Amino acid sequence: MVGIGGKGGGVGQLLAAVAATLLLRLFSGPGPELLSENEVDENDEINGDEDIDMVTGKVSPVIIKWTNINCSLSDKSSNIVRFLLKNVNGEAKPGRLLAIMGPSGSGKTTLLNVLAGQTTASPRLHLSGILEVNGLSISNKTYKSAYVRQEDLFFSQLTVRETLSLAAELQLRDISSVEDRDKYVDNLLFKLGLVSCADSRVGDAKVRGISGGERKRLSVACELIASPSVIFADEPTTGLDAFQAEKVMETLRQLAQDGHTVICSIHQPRGSVYAKFDDIVLLSKGELVYSGPAGREPLAYFENLGYRCPDHENPAEFLADLISVDYSSSESVYASQKRIDGLVDAFSQQQSPILYASLLKEGTTHGVKIRRKPVNRKKVGWWRQFCLLLKRAWMQASRDGPTNKVRARMSVASAIIFGSVFWRMGKSQTSIQDRMGLLQVAAINTAMAALTKTVGVFPKERSIVDRERAKGSYTLGPYLLSKLLAEVPIGAAFPLLFGSILYPMARLHPTLPKFGNFCAIVTVESFSASAMGLTVGAMVPTTEAAMALGPSLMTVFIVFGGYYVNAENTPIIFRWIPRGSLIRWAFQGLCINEFRGLKFDHQNSFDIQSGEQALERLSFGQSNIRDTMAAQSRILLFWYYVTYFLMKKNKPKYQQLLPPPATAPVILHELEPLGNDPPNTYQQSSPPDQGNPTQQIEKPPAEPLNLFELEGSDIQELPVQ
Ligand SMILES: Nc1ncnc2c1ncn2[C@@H]1O[C@H](COP(=O)(O)OP(=O)(O)O)[C@@H](O)[C@H]1O
Ligand SMILES: [Mg+2]
Repeated sequence: MVGIGGKGGGVGQLLAAVAATLLLRLFSGPGPELLSENEVDENDEINGDEDIDMVTGKVSPVIIKWTNINCSLSDKSSNIVRFLLKNVNGEAKPGRLLAIMGPSGSGKTTLLNVLAGQTTASPRLHLSGILEVNGLSISNKTYKSAYVRQEDLFFSQLTVRETLSLAAELQLRDISSVEDRDKYVDNLLFKLGLVSCADSRVGDAKVRGISGGERKRLSVACELIASPSVIFADEPTTGLDAFQAEKVMETLRQLAQDGHTVICSIHQPRGSVYAKFDDIVLLSKGELVYSGPAGREPLAYFENLGYRCPDHENPAEFLADLISVDYSSSESVYASQKRIDGLVDAFSQQQSPILYASLLKEGTTHGVKIRRKPVNRKKVGWWRQFCLLLKRAWMQASRDGPTNKVRARMSVASAIIFGSVFWRMGKSQTSIQDRMGLLQVAAINTAMAALTKTVGVFPKERSIVDRERAKGSYTLGPYLLSKLLAEVPIGAAFPLLFGSILYPMARLHPTLPKFGNFCAIVTVESFSASAMGLTVGAMVPTTEAAMALGPSLMTVFIVFGGYYVNAENTPIIFRWIPRGSLIRWAFQGLCINEFRGLKFDHQNSFDIQSGEQALERLSFGQSNIRDTMAAQSRILLFWYYVTYFLMKKNKPKYQQLLPPPATAPVILHELEPLGNDPPNTYQQSSPPDQGNPTQQIEKPPAEPLNLFELEGSDIQELPVQ
């Protein structure tokens, strides 16, 4: 590697080493088939039963049973424990659609995450219970599952068919022929009712694409590619109109009928949607109010307890009202709270409350065999991943008309503005300062344009990539490399446009090679700024945070960009900043390119006579363009490497499900008939917001985990059965 003009040697060598490591990693890193154990764990979601026929979609039946699921959040400072789930039991069977119903904040998503094994790990969270799959402990996950999240994320410029085809190509190595894969995708499109919009772009907030319902069904389709036995869907109908919601639920019901075990959470379905459920789980404030068959059975159950559903009322609405706290007045809060407590007790007495690990059997149950050892699915090779991702990145970058138009307009506008301000600079003494000023603003403008564009889109793309990596679709190396390459032609177009307007307007050094150098320097700088934008996007969770952090970080590099503070006057502790500043290297390169060989008009002996003298004043005299380009490339690779490292490190970690404690309490409340007058002594100043995580929760009267101190007198300890 080329040294950086003597001064930047230390940092230059460090950057060179990092860059070389990155290149080695990216190019010669083992393909997915050769990954070490550590690297394979990135893809541990893809363990699966290979008996599933990819083409016909035959599904291995999976029964999931959960017992005594408790999930609590502890606050160490105030010693308060808040239960998100309390003694929840239930069962989901193949061929049946199970709906988890409950008001907002009742713990539906929490339960779904526990069942899917995707509760985000936190030291404050405590998770315990028994989760069995086909009668075996869940610890060795041996079935394929799909999780359709509440938020649908896609590459907006791809069509529905392209999205599915690419996902299929990345995930299904078993289907090698193009015809088979097309047939598979066509089947999926047909199955999910997406044929009519197959060739429409998915779209996003900027470009209108397919409808909300179609997006949700596309999410389900993408998840179905891996032929999962179990499908989890978190509020698949939220945000959809009644018609679309019904179509999505019909799709899920159809999938259940095809043999999948389907578990979804739903807030308040309409009657026709409720009729599609085979089983329901009713949750209120994390406690079970009912779990069992849907249809008339829950109505009959609650009628027995004295709560009758009026004849023409939607059963789902009746159930939702029954298990929701009414915050209209303090009396109604008290009455509804008491009713719910009574219903929770009534249900807990119905079922055997404690089932323990002794029930877990080795081998098979329910007549369904499952594999004990996780099997790693065969994955698509490194090179194939790279080609597919390159194709996708290119489609996304080249088709994004609105973004590209805005970038082009901004490049033209800023070139015209700067060109007008620095119109036809001559060779006078004052033009020296003008030239430096112009080259500095050109460097800043190019960097800022590339940075803001990247931080604006990358955090969202990262979420998609994180999800796809969790599925084991591909690894980071091919992804980042394909992204870099795909964006070269489009990313280069804007700095070139900017340069070709500005250069003649300002009458910079008028030779063709100098013009070529100018364009090359701003182009490489633009990629470097983009790479820095990737790092910022990988560092923070949201676009807003990235938008705040990116420009602030860039400001530091602008200050040390070579124009405001001379590199030689920079305090020692800040010397490293200009050496890592992409603005400084661009500015230095542009100055060398512009000033070398230029003669200025002069009258006095102390006037600057040549460009070389001007460069000496900036301390750029010893350097050349090649060195600055090499330094810029190293900075680019450095940011790519940091992005790679951050994305690799930020893999989501999931909370372990611990076995339940030896004893568990049952809290008994008095069952309160609907409409009972609350006692006058009850006071509640303001109704608690169920969804507010900062809300102060009273210490739970019971402690099923024996981990925290107990308070309350109405606890019965039940013996282990
Ligand atoms: N990791 C967590 N940290 C703090 N609070 C949480 C966490 N997960 C869930 N909660 C809280 O648990 C309650 C239930 O959340 P959730 O399962 O998302 O409800 P639902 O999906 O039924 O609307 C909410 O009050 C939520 O704020
Ligand atoms: Mg939720």
